[in-house]
Amino acid sequence: MGVPAAGGSCSAVVATTTAAVFLLLLLLCGCGAPAAMAAPGGGGGGEQQYDGGARYKDPRQPLNRRIEDLLARMTLAEKIGQMSQIERENATADVVRGYFVGSVLSGGGSVPAPQAPAEAWVEMVNEMQRAAMSTRLGIPMLYGIDAVHGHGNVYKATVFPHNVGLGCTRDPELVKKIGAATALEVRATGIPYVFAPCVAVCRDPRWGRCYESYSEDPRVVQQMTSSIIPGLQGEIPANGRRGAPFVAGQRNVAACSKHYVGDGGTTRGINENNTAASFHELLGVHMPPYYSAVIQGVSTVMVSFSSWNRVKMHANHFLVTDFLKNRLRFRGFVISDWRGLDKMTSPEHDDYITSVKLGILAGIDMVMIPYTYTEFVDDLTALVRNGTIPTSRIDDAVRRILRVKFTMGLFEDPYGDPSLAGELGKPEHRELAREAVRRSLVLLKNGKPGQKPLLPLPKKAGRILVAGSHADNLGYQCGGWTITWQGLGGNNLTAGTTILNGIKRAVQDHGTEVVYSESPDAGFVQRNKGRFDYAVVVVGEPPYAESFGDNLNLTIPEPGPSVIRVVCGGGIRCAVVLVSGRPLAVEPYVGAVDALVAAWLPGTEGEGVSDVLFGDYGFTGKLARTWFRSVEQLPMNVGDARYDPLFPFGFGLGLETQPSTA
Ligand code: GLC
Repeated sequence: MGVPAAGGSCSAVVATTTAAVFLLLLLLCGCGAPAAMAAPGGGGGGEQQYDGGARYKDPRQPLNRRIEDLLARMTLAEKIGQMSQIERENATADVVRGYFVGSVLSGGGSVPAPQAPAEAWVEMVNEMQRAAMSTRLGIPMLYGIDAVHGHGNVYKATVFPHNVGLGCTRDPELVKKIGAATALEVRATGIPYVFAPCVAVCRDPRWGRCYESYSEDPRVVQQMTSSIIPGLQGEIPANGRRGAPFVAGQRNVAACSKHYVGDGGTTRGINENNTAASFHELLGVHMPPYYSAVIQGVSTVMVSFSSWNRVKMHANHFLVTDFLKNRLRFRGFVISDWRGLDKMTSPEHDDYITSVKLGILAGIDMVMIPYTYTEFVDDLTALVRNGTIPTSRIDDAVRRILRVKFTMGLFEDPYGDPSLAGELGKPEHRELAREAVRRSLVLLKNGKPGQKPLLPLPKKAGRILVAGSHADNLGYQCGGWTITWQGLGGNNLTAGTTILNGIKRAVQDHGTEVVYSESPDAGFVQRNKGRFDYAVVVVGEPPYAESFGDNLNLTIPEPGPSVIRVVCGGGIRCAVVLVSGRPLAVEPYVGAVDALVAAWLPGTEGEGVSDVLFGDYGFTGKLARTWFRSVEQLPMNVGDARYDPLFPFGFGLGLETQPSTA
């Protein structure tokens, strides 16, 4: 909505060039024209009968012919049904059938039962699918879930490091493998669609979702986007069409780049708030990952709750239709965020029919309406019937949805495959996650002036102390979007290894006694002074998601600072491991500690931390975010004229490093 203001910084030149290069690439490879329908995973071959000449059911037919044949058969109710995505708790067979529901989702933490096994997920999804397939035209429904760091909602799934840590690996091949492993674990539960990757370029760590962002640098986010999408969806074959939605087969999933666009650039990092930027700044900082996503054939794009220069993204026709669909030639479908239309107004859901009008006319194709689907269907039907919304807009939305469903083979393989159950949390995936943990750790300090480096820690020691709230807490090390939306504390939420248990395993064959005290007091430290060879102090943030993570002061939450002061200030050489979704205000403590490690949100495989602490592997992680001195400096990002960080973007020590001066 509204043509952007002219002008902008030098990054404008970069941005425009970037966009031009992208468009040239897109045009040169003739992308956007959908590939002829290659029968995914079957089809073709023998003369299969298709009832009543229903072309759309024949996988040997060209893609567009299937789309147009089916579209021509659909009623308005069936079309609007395809545009509706409801929450699983409302998706009874009667509702799915009666409203021709095209998609169902699990919101964060929405599970068939606590600790439900893969088989229970498959049965739940298949039951809904049987209802969808029983409708007049038998259009399969698409089940989606937030698998944003592995299949985090699901009990005993492998939970990988959140994106804030993966960005520090600078290893696209590793991230691609993580995508492939995640796809297998999602398919193990019968689900073919994920609301991932988040390709936000987080420009202010006060944002509660900064841990979902790979980096503050759009180039790092682009690099990871270009890897995770083919990991999740499969690689587009050499003769494939760039720019068209692509899912290789039944061991891959449809992906969703989110949240379009500028979600990571809001004022003071306030979630869902306003991103004030010129068009060129938007193109230079927040748009590049979407160039990569479209080139990699991403199937869907999710619109951001946030606004750009005070225009809600959910109502932004210029960016959603003119730019993403027409200029970038994105051919998949655009989905709203959770109750995204409701949240266009304040109070929410005020004058809802107008929000439906604005959102659909802006170019949203599928609407995430977890609960209010009847009102949405009634309002959209009325808007089409009275001519406010042209049928052509509805048909464009449905074409895009059908294009994704046909391309991913959902018509040929609508049901979950129970034989994949063993993929969930399998050892190979946990080993991959452990490697990702190792590669994500960033060594910020190692040794005090005039002293030899503390790391790598000797496995053979008399007695060591492990302390801190995050040492023995699987939920804390996983962070948000794990088992529940906000994440949990404790060790019973799923299967994994805590950082403490990783330390114990590392030293167990070396006769070293490990003493664990979550929050030792000064008396304990004094009484034991000289009796510990060293201490590992693991502290950080409790789990959070979305606006619950917005934080303007970014201090290490208590009792972290107290434990650091008591242990590290009590005469014991100490390595502090920080478990957090972003840089925190650590300057007051850096001088007191012997070593400082950023572990981010490592996930279930805590042994990846001890692997590096004890030197079995080196530190290779490099900061993908600037580490500020104080929050008063924020926002502060690499390339800024005013740039005085505690640790700069790209910083990361190796094990051979001499003691720092800090
Ligand atoms: C949430 C998030 C989005 C997520 C969706 C479904 O509000 O903004 O990232 O995919 O709802 O859970």
